[in-house]
Amino acid sequence: MKRDSFGSRLGALMALIGSAVGLGNLWKFPYMAGSNGGAAFILIYIAFLFMLCLPLMISEFIIGRRSQSNPVGAFRKLAPGTKWYFTGVLGVIGAFVILSFYSVVGGWAVKYFITSLQFGFTSATGAEAEFNSFVSSPVLPVVMHIIFLGATVAVLWTGVKDGIEKYSKILMPLLFLLVLVLAIYALNLPNARMGIDFMIKPDWSKVNSSVILNALGQGLFSLSLGMGIAITYSSYMNKTENLFRIAIVTLVMDLIFALLAGFMILPAVFAFGFEPTQGPGLLFIVLPEVFASMPGGGIFAIMFFIILLVAALTSAISLLEVIVSYLIEEKKLSRHRALVYSGIALVITGSLCSLSQGILSDFKIFGNNIFDFFDKLSSTYIMPIGAFFIAIFVGWKMKRKHVNEELDNNGLLKIRLFNLFWFLVRYFVPLAIVVIFLNMLGIF
Ligand code: TRP
Repeated sequence: MKRDSFGSRLGALMALIGSAVGLGNLWKFPYMAGSNGGAAFILIYIAFLFMLCLPLMISEFIIGRRSQSNPVGAFRKLAPGTKWYFTGVLGVIGAFVILSFYSVVGGWAVKYFITSLQFGFTSATGAEAEFNSFVSSPVLPVVMHIIFLGATVAVLWTGVKDGIEKYSKILMPLLFLLVLVLAIYALNLPNARMGIDFMIKPDWSKVNSSVILNALGQGLFSLSLGMGIAITYSSYMNKTENLFRIAIVTLVMDLIFALLAGFMILPAVFAFGFEPTQGPGLLFIVLPEVFASMPGGGIFAIMFFIILLVAALTSAISLLEVIVSYLIEEKKLSRHRALVYSGIALVITGSLCSLSQGILSDFKIFGNNIFDFFDKLSSTYIMPIGAFFIAIFVGWKMKRKHVNEELDNNGLLKIRLFNLFWFLVRYFVPLAIVVIFLNMLGIF
């Protein structure tokens, strides 16, 4: 069987950016920054992006392109007869866990898109009550989540190339412009200054071990790392691609989107008198107020929610692709069968996540409802553990010579920072993850 591959350079890069930029940037980053104290969290986050996430992304690229396989097959190929392939299996499980709650938030976006079509953000009161009553109701959010999931399955039904490339290329630049306009508007609201200060003036007294772990989890989540996404996508890249450059561009684009989303939401939070520590509802509570107050807000709302949906979809596609390519290549299912099976399983787990906002809210796992449990399980356990093993694999299991070959394309490129990269993957990344982890468990 010939594997799918990307048709163009731009296609591979855009698909990666499409995977990275999603609800993680627009929905999660602002509320994580809001709940974790603002500027100090953002600075730690940025430091992690460059020192930890960048070497990790490059490591995943090296594994994927060298093996030309899905994450499980990749470890089987590069380390035959060992248990390393469990790292890939962990990634498939993680993708499933993330997609379960991700598509619920995707469903919220579907609902808000429909509201925007009815120009429903006119009353500047009650956005919070409306959001809470919507997410906790038993039927509507479950239906919306199934619609979002159905759309994700539909895009993948036609295969990697047609599915992912076509959508990402056009809509990402559009999303950028729109978020930029909304951020400029928000920055000019009365009292926006408080939001800006919150984002740029660090208050280090608010930093504790859970803030640091959250920054790490958010970095991994936002860049889709530790889960084999970059392994999967780089396995579709050709041998002349400059991996280091692709990683840098993806990271910078992702960071720009996160910061812009922060500047779009947090000043508005203060301008409209909300608390930045709202949690997962922040975007959906604040933006309706913004649209209601903005001249032409109705039109902006429609455009925003369409593009938010596309950004969420391109990320969801990448998550589902990990699961599906595993089922196809390791379990020998047909593409369509793999999609149907994983789709059905996700409808079930996603519905549970959705219901945990309402009728199942008393059902707690380790003190969290199902939604929060899935979120924490992935961001603070599965992803860091996956990331740890990926760094160890590239830094200690693979030969330095092979790693270098992938990075300089067999001597075709000049790689200047190889030694720094090598130090980071071998020592800094695994140690940092272990320290942060033990710290969170209260062992230090
Ligand atoms: N990075 C995406 C976002 O920011 C979410 C995502 C897609 C993801 N694929 C992933 C997160 C894989 C972790 C692992 O919305």
